[in-house]
Amino acid sequence: MTCLPETAASRDPAGLPYTPDPSFANRARMNPTTDLLAFTPEVERETRDLYQKVRRVIPDVEWPVHAPLIAAINRLKRERNAIILVHNYMRPEIFHGVADYSGDSLGLAQFGERAPAGTIVMCGVHFMAETAKILSPEKTVLLPDLKAGCSLASSITAADVRALRRQHPGAPVVTYVNTSADVKAESDICCTSANAVQVVESLGVDEVIFIPDKYLGRYVASKTGVRLILWEGACEVHERFSGTELRDFRGMHPGIHVMAHPECPPDVLAEADFVGSTSAMIDHVGKVHPRQVAMITECAMAGNVAVGFPDVEFIQPCNLCPHMQRITLPKILQSLQTMSPAIDVPADVARRARGALERMLAVGRGAARD
Ligand code: 13P
Ligand code: SF4
Repeated sequence: MTCLPETAASRDPAGLPYTPDPSFANRARMNPTTDLLAFTPEVERETRDLYQKVRRVIPDVEWPVHAPLIAAINRLKRERNAIILVHNYMRPEIFHGVADYSGDSLGLAQFGERAPAGTIVMCGVHFMAETAKILSPEKTVLLPDLKAGCSLASSITAADVRALRRQHPGAPVVTYVNTSADVKAESDICCTSANAVQVVESLGVDEVIFIPDKYLGRYVASKTGVRLILWEGACEVHERFSGTELRDFRGMHPGIHVMAHPECPPDVLAEADFVGSTSAMIDHVGKVHPRQVAMITECAMAGNVAVGFPDVEFIQPCNLCPHMQRITLPKILQSLQTMSPAIDVPADVARRARGALERMLAVGRGAARD
């Protein structure tokens, strides 16, 4: 992966990543929460192994700002009996620095449900935190920035789902998890990008209402032969990629292995060597071990994955998700300090949404037994 170049000045002659310097404390002064956080010798020692792991993807100059926050968050989460769940799109300092579990939407939902902790800090977007709360109502679920939304989730309301049901009586509603709790509560079953094909096939019907991602829906239709009634929703990040862009890209990097998320438009998926959820893409890199790879998805993910595959070159055609990028280390620390903002879902909505989520999780468990 192409990172900012290392500067000789930032490297300790003894081979340590940094010589602690009190002036670095100033860089951590981002808000009152982090005012007293300094890159002390203790912090340097505590985070040294981690730094060696991530130095390929985190520029040297940033480490003295991240390290004290990482150390403080990890201390506080133990005191609070909290776990930190991290989506694959989080920045590398979050993904590698503070995660107890990292994964795709399906993995986060499954792990959150089983986790023994009293508090979950969701480093992802709002629908992911809501899903965790619905599946674990007894836990406190924190989302470090409540404005971390999703263009898919905001594209459809519960009233829209009721109207679709009236227009297509008898057709079951399959709802992508990138939706609000209200929308899930109106649905028969949920799905994620990892299990959408399996969920639709599990229903054994010829026609379903599939909401809200039209591109994921078209992909599922092409794999299942089921007629999908679609909604006009799209991910603002993935819809910006195009097939032409990918063909140009292949011209610039002959032999590159191209993977794409199924939220991309059909002409992009047609150009890809592999289509899958964020975690499926990571697993695929491990299996295929390509020399050069492009992940047609959110930009931060390549940095997270590159750490585990030092011999693979990650070329990044970049589109950042502005919602995912709202989650930062200072906000995570502040969230643990104040135990807010906490997610709340009205009991009746949560009960109905939970039914749709549990039916999805049961499909996965059934497949695992087969
Ligand atoms: P995954 O379930 O593949 O992680 O995708 C979630 C998402 O928001 C993709 O944009
Ligand atoms: Fe939503 Fe797209 Fe961001 Fe995923 S990448 S959270 S689908 S806006």
